[in-house]
Amino acid sequence: MRLRSNGPEETFRYGDRLGRLLKAGSTVCLFGELGAGKTVFVKGIASALGIPEREITSASFTIIAEYVGMLRSSPVPFYHVDLYRIRDQNELESIGIEEYIGKRGIAVVEWAEKLGGFEGCISVRFEILDGEEREIEIEGMDEADWHNQ
Ligand SMILES: Nc1ncnc2c1ncn2[C@@H]1O[C@H](COP(=O)(O)OP(=O)(O)OP(=O)(O)O)[C@@H](O)[C@H]1O
Ligand SMILES: [Mg+2]
Repeated sequence: MRLRSNGPEETFRYGDRLGRLLKAGSTVCLFGELGAGKTVFVKGIASALGIPEREITSASFTIIAEYVGMLRSSPVPFYHVDLYRIRDQNELESIGIEEYIGKRGIAVVEWAEKLGGFEGCISVRFEILDGEEREIEIEGMDEADWHNQ
């Protein structure tokens, strides 16, 4: 599914909308260059889980930031992963990435190409167009659910 965003608020709302469709164990893989809007989208996802936008900061330095979200009145671990600084498979293993993705929490991964392919994730690709315009392509989720909510 292809979406067009005309500014950060709209990207945030798309993230929020996707966030409402996630389940425990969902992984969202985000692709797109620096400043494309990945973290803005993560803030939207987080807000759908009741995590305030201001709590989500860039995870570039910590690599993994852990929160507790709410999913249908139950707490759910929320992992914001940013692999920008990861250089190779060894580094990926040393942070224990497999503990976070595809487990009982919800994981969102910026610079997901560094995972070297991950089965079963919802992929979100950002492309910077003119100015504040972005094309956002989402794959791996049920489009009917998106439209029905
Ligand atoms: N349509 C848009 N959607 C999202 N962000 C936008 C949009 N238009 C402009 N922006 C701006 O672009 C920037 C996006 O920053 P953001 O941190 O989300 O990027 P990122 O993809 O996470 O980058 P990085 O790879 O450095 O983590 C913000 O400053 C935001 O205000
Ligand atoms: Mg970011």
